[in-house]
Amino acid sequence: MNKKIAPSILSANFAKLGEEISSVEKAGADFIHVDVMDGHFVPNITIGPPVVKSIKKVATKPLDVHLMIQNPEKYIPDFLDAGADIISVHPESTPHIQRALSMIRKGGAKAAVALNPATPLYALDHIWDDIDMVLLMTVNPGFGGQSFIPEMVNKIQTLRKKIDRTNEKIWIEIDGGVNVDNIGQLASYGVDIFVAGSAIFGAPPYSDVIATMKKKISI
Ligand code: DX5
Ligand code: ZN
Repeated sequence: MNKKIAPSILSANFAKLGEEISSVEKAGADFIHVDVMDGHFVPNITIGPPVVKSIKKVATKPLDVHLMIQNPEKYIPDFLDAGADIISVHPESTPHIQRALSMIRKGGAKAAVALNPATPLYALDHIWDDIDMVLLMTVNPGFGGQSFIPEMVNKIQTLRKKIDRTNEKIWIEIDGGVNVDNIGQLASYGVDIFVAGSAIFGAPPYSDVIATMKKKISI
């Protein structure tokens, strides 16, 4: 797969979300990354299924829905109904990660596991067959605009090797602190999808920043 850019709408202007989504799509976004936070798993509250449903009506690119919520199994059916194309769940948020992943796939979406920075890669050891993507958090989840945690470089490289040995179809997505200055280097570690919130929505025009990012990841 060619490397992709997934703008995170967490840093968009929520008062004109539809326009913001159309703008980043026109500017070259490959996915729309939607951060769902519940104020329990992470110390912030964002949006739920009704907003995802509204977004689905305007978006032309796939919705990459990142669940940062406790008890995700309870809400996965609602996000599937709302039109999520990829759903990421954190194993730190549920004792039943395999169940959550199979619910997502049965519902027709791509299933992804999201790992907090301190969660070891062996959390993936018994679920390789159940996943389409691994989302590596490169900041602690909860907020946009934080700095990339340098220790995550080694984690990305190790995951790349593991996937090359195990199942080459699994995508690697990184999320947090990605910007025009570090994206080229990060691409060289074998990342497939780059989430970027503040680096895109905080630096209009979006077409310029996404074009710069795409140039740097086309290696
Ligand atoms: C953080 C979210 C990210 C966030 C990234 O919990 O999962 O998707 O929007 O924001 P930036 O790109 O600003 O670090
Ligand atoms: Zn995210």
